Amino acid sequence: MEAMIIYLSSCVCLLLLSVLIKFIHKFWWTPICIQSKMMPQGIKGPSYKFIYGNTKEIIRMRNEIMATPMELSNHILPRIEPHVHSWTKLYGKNFLFWYGPKPQLVVTEPDLIKQILNDKEGGIYRKRDLTYFAQKLLGDGLASARGEKWFRQRKIANHAFHAENLKVNACILVNDRCSTQFKLLKNRDAIEADRLQKDIRDSLIEMIMKRENNVSTGELDRYGSDLLGLLMKAYHHEDQTQRISIDDMIDECKTFYVAGHETTATLLCWTVFLLATNADWQDKAREEVLKLFGKQNPSPDSLSRLKTMSMIINESLRLYSPAVAVLRETKSQVKLGSITVPANMDISISVLALHHDPQIWGEDVHLFKPQRFAEGVAKATNNNMAAFCPFGLGPRICVGLNFSMIETKVALSMILQRYRFTLSPTYVHSPVQVISIRPQHGLPVVLHSL
Ligand code: HEM
Repeated sequence: MEAMIIYLSSCVCLLLLSVLIKFIHKFWWTPICIQSKMMPQGIKGPSYKFIYGNTKEIIRMRNEIMATPMELSNHILPRIEPHVHSWTKLYGKNFLFWYGPKPQLVVTEPDLIKQILNDKEGGIYRKRDLTYFAQKLLGDGLASARGEKWFRQRKIANHAFHAENLKVNACILVNDRCSTQFKLLKNRDAIEADRLQKDIRDSLIEMIMKRENNVSTGELDRYGSDLLGLLMKAYHHEDQTQRISIDDMIDECKTFYVAGHETTATLLCWTVFLLATNADWQDKAREEVLKLFGKQNPSPDSLSRLKTMSMIINESLRLYSPAVAVLRETKSQVKLGSITVPANMDISISVLALHHDPQIWGEDVHLFKPQRFAEGVAKATNNNMAAFCPFGLGPRICVGLNFSMIETKVALSMILQRYRFTLSPTYVHSPVQVISIRPQHGLPVVLHSL
């Protein structure tokens, strides 16, 4: 009996010891090792704090800056990413900080950004796994897929977004795979997420069935060449190895809705803000639209001739880049420029910091000056094309780039044809990041009919 007790207590002690060792390894030893590998290479940053890393400092900085609105300026980096703003000043363009015990290398140098984003799919710099709620929102769609699955889905998406095909069936969110017995273990947010996921899945299935029925009853002669049609064709592919599942189809619809809707809506929103506060550019944009289309609806073929509007949209994408950062992680140890980056390192490319860097854009970096783009992006960036990447770069560049430019141009043209607009006196300038950058209290504008 006594031997049994000794044996059991030894097992418990061993178990506790191994948990303790793992804990110390994760929360103390690994951060110390990584810091000591990065520091001699010139990659500095705020020092690691036990368990929390720098998370508390970031939250404090965010809370402080968000407590009051800002002046009516485009100098939004200190507000949206206060830690990146202060730490790039203190530690240089590329620095290391800690989300809890997880290190994150922030990169804002164009040459390094080019190297990371131009890496081939399946190379060293891979997409990170989605967080729990992001996974619910996006499913395993194109934006998060890797390897073979990504190649297949990207081919379908490229086809759907081909110039002739720019017409997307916008769909809705999330997919339902969880069963109710887990509810007791979940908090309220997770249960609500499950409920939404189910509703969205049901709406999507309804939409898919409708298209299916239209084809089977002969109302439509084929599935169509929009994204939904192409996904349905892939679902019915004769070659079974090429077929996609119903869940793939649903995840893809969710991805396109989330990735496409919010980003383009905020682009349009900040462009309206910039034109409302820069009446001279609003007049120039209207003049161009009226010259090209008169009072007629904009024709898709002529949108590429809206030169002034393209300059305005680019400048808006630079100042209020909807995708604040692009994220990757290293699959194995890699040489990035002159830096040796360990495996499994999170990398955050701060698009916003890049777009607000006075060394690239000049001392007037925070001013709205569309004329920067008068001779194209190459000239605006001094042939440093990676300095402007609102849609990312390389193989995983935004597949909806052309579509969103078309959407924005059509919407802006139609507004400009009908109204002159100014900011409402009730507008409060408080850009905030909720996935993309949005005006915290909305963007009230006064429309003056023309
Ligand atoms: C102003 C509008 C938009 C901005 C600023 C934007 C930005 C981006 C960025 C930065 C990426 C690259 C992410 C990375 O490399 O990790 C991306 C990828 C993606 N975007 Fe967009 N996007 C916009 C509009 C759209 C639209 C309209 C759609 C679809 C309707 C869309 C669908 C996607 C998808 C599916 C991906 C993933 C592509 C892949 O990984 O192969 N985006 N977007």
